[in-house]
Formats: sequence, structure tokens, C-alpha cells
Amino acid sequence: MSVGGARGSRVVDNAEMCTMIESSDEWIQQRTGIKERRWAADGEDAITLGTAAAAKAIERAGLQPSDIDAILVSTVSHFMQTPSLACIIADKLGMPEPAAVDLSAACAGFCYGVGMADGMVRAGSAKHVLVLGVEVLSKYTDFTDRSTAFLFGDGAGAVVVGPSDTPAIGPTLWGSDPSQHEVITIDDWREERSPEEGGPYIHMEGRQVFKWATTFIAGKAREALDLAGISPDELDVFIPHQANNRITDSMLRHLKLPADVVVARDIVGMGNSSAASVPLAMEALLDSGDATSGQTALMIGFGAGLVYAGQTVVL
Ligand code: ACO
Repeated sequence: MSVGGARGSRVVDNAEMCTMIESSDEWIQQRTGIKERRWAADGEDAITLGTAAAAKAIERAGLQPSDIDAILVSTVSHFMQTPSLACIIADKLGMPEPAAVDLSAACAGFCYGVGMADGMVRAGSAKHVLVLGVEVLSKYTDFTDRSTAFLFGDGAGAVVVGPSDTPAIGPTLWGSDPSQHEVITIDDWREERSPEEGGPYIHMEGRQVFKWATTFIAGKAREALDLAGISPDELDVFIPHQANNRITDSMLRHLKLPADVVVARDIVGMGNSSAASVPLAMEALLDSGDATSGQTALMIGFGAGLVYAGQTVVL
């Protein structure tokens, strides 16, 4: 699977974060694992980051932008309702006529996109599908809310899904708990806000998401593995959405994976980059040599909706 990533170039460590909110490096690291996060610098946004990640993934796949038949972009932080980020990135890369659409599934969005792309390729509706997760949540951060302000990072990650003689993507396990749609929200744009208030902002009932992720989602990760017919012993790499290292630890306890399975911990230097977190973590593992092409990985995303999606992939 050819992956490309782009991270916001502004590094914001916990010491700098603690000049913006009342907190401490110790609290943030102990509660989440985050040491620093990457924010979009001046001149960077969802378009520049998304385009850079997409260009890298296409090049690594040995393809040209014109080879891409469809582009699916998962984002909840594109700054325009329309046109879609997919159309803008397609234009920036000079793709002549791809199917182009954005999808909103927050931190599960990349895994949703991979599932959809897999279906499109299998059905013959597209040969090569570019799947992107792109988020710039620093622009939606309420610095009067210390329980969320330190969490998010900005970046983009992309993969190209294409035909293969041996299936490289397992069946996607996906679903939602729509009764919890109010647990993570971005402000309703119809609400009037003064310039001092700013916004729209992201809001999250962190404890509720934490509980859901460490109970229900941990079970779903195991189900995604079972659905692919892969035993924990056969798994090489685990790439959960980078929400919180304590959530990852809890999933590991539930999955009972062998000690030699490589586990993504990209949150430490990146923060939670929502839809971008899984492909960025995948790229980091491959670039560092901690994971290698041809290994089997389990990915699982979960977030606002509440929604989840996961599948196994051959890297
Ligand atoms: N610094 C210091 N203390 C803080 C901070 C802070 N930044 N934030 C909260 N606290 C305090 C609280 O006031 C509370 O104090 P109290 O016990 O006196 O009331 C205490 O720390 C514990 O607060 P909790 O909210 O229970 O902290 P928790 O351990 O749950 O950690 C966190 C918060 C990191 C947000 C956690 O709940 C979490 O990771 N939740 C899941 C997030 C997630 O997965 N989101 C999904 C993806 S996001 C998306 O979809 C866009």
C-alpha cells in the first residue's frame, strides 16, 4: 500500500501549550502520551497539506495524477462547505476527470475511505482510488477549554488503492452509535458568535469517548481481525487511531497481541490528527523501518458520530 503524509510544520511542545491553557507537560504526557503536536504554519492549510500527501502517495505508487479515477477525502475541518476538498486537491494535482467527493466520519474517516475504495476497485467502478485523511483542527480549537485544546495536530495522509492479484485489504468492519452524536461536535454555524468568542469550535465529552473506545471499540478491533480470518499471532502491526496512548494500551490488553507486534505511537509527536492519524502513523512506521512493506497491519478508526471502521491491510 503506497502511503504519503504531510505534517503541519509548526511544532508546538507541551511547554508552549501550557502558555495557552492551564495544564502541565506531566499531566498531558501521563493522560495521553503527547509530548508535542504539529500545527499548520502560516501558508499551510487543508489544501496544501492534502495536496502534498496525495502527491507523495501517487509518486510512491509509481503512478501519475492522471491515473487516479477517484479521490475520496475524509475531513471535518475543511474551511469551506463547498467545493469539496477532493475537487480542489484533484485540480491542484492536475487530475483531469476523477470522481471526487469528501466524506465526514471524523477520526474513522480514513478507514471508511479505504473500505469504500476497496469496494469501488472490486466492483470495477474505479481502477485506482486515492484515499485521503486531511485535518487542520487547530483552527477549531477553543483555548478556553483545557480538556480538548492540547489534543489536536494538523496533517494529511494518503494511500492509493488499486488492483492486486492477491487481496491486500480485508473486509471492512464499520458501524456507528448514532445515539451518541452529541458527544463530539463542531459548533453549529447558524449560532451567532461574537468576534471575541471566535469559533466555530470542536467540543468533546472526553470521558464518554474514552469509555466507549476502551470497551466497545476494543472489541470491534478484535472483530475486524476475526472478520479477516487472521489470528493475533499472524498480525505484524497494529495502527489504531491516534487518540490517546491509554486507549491504545487498553485495546492491546483486550486484543492480547503477541509482544512482537509493532504498535503505532505516532500521537507522541503529532497529537490527534483525526482522519489523518492512521495514514500518518502508517507512513512513520514504514519510513522508520519499524514496519516493512508486505507485513499485515490492523487499522481501526473511531470518533465523532460516533462512528468506527477498521480492516486489515498488507502494507
Ligand atoms: N490539564 C490539567 N488538568 C486537566 C486538563 C488539562 N489540560 N484537562 C482536564 N483536566 C482535569 C479535569 O478538570 C479533571 O479534574 P477533576 O478530576 O478535578 O474534575 C481531571 O483533569 C480529569 O479530567 P478528565 O476529562 O477525566 O481527563 P481524562 O483522563 O479523561 O483525559 C482526555 C482527557 C485526554 C480528553 C481523554 O478523555 C480522552 O482521550 N478521550 C478520548 C478522546 C478521543 O478519542 N476522541 C475521539 C477522536 S476526536 C474526533 O473524533 C474529532
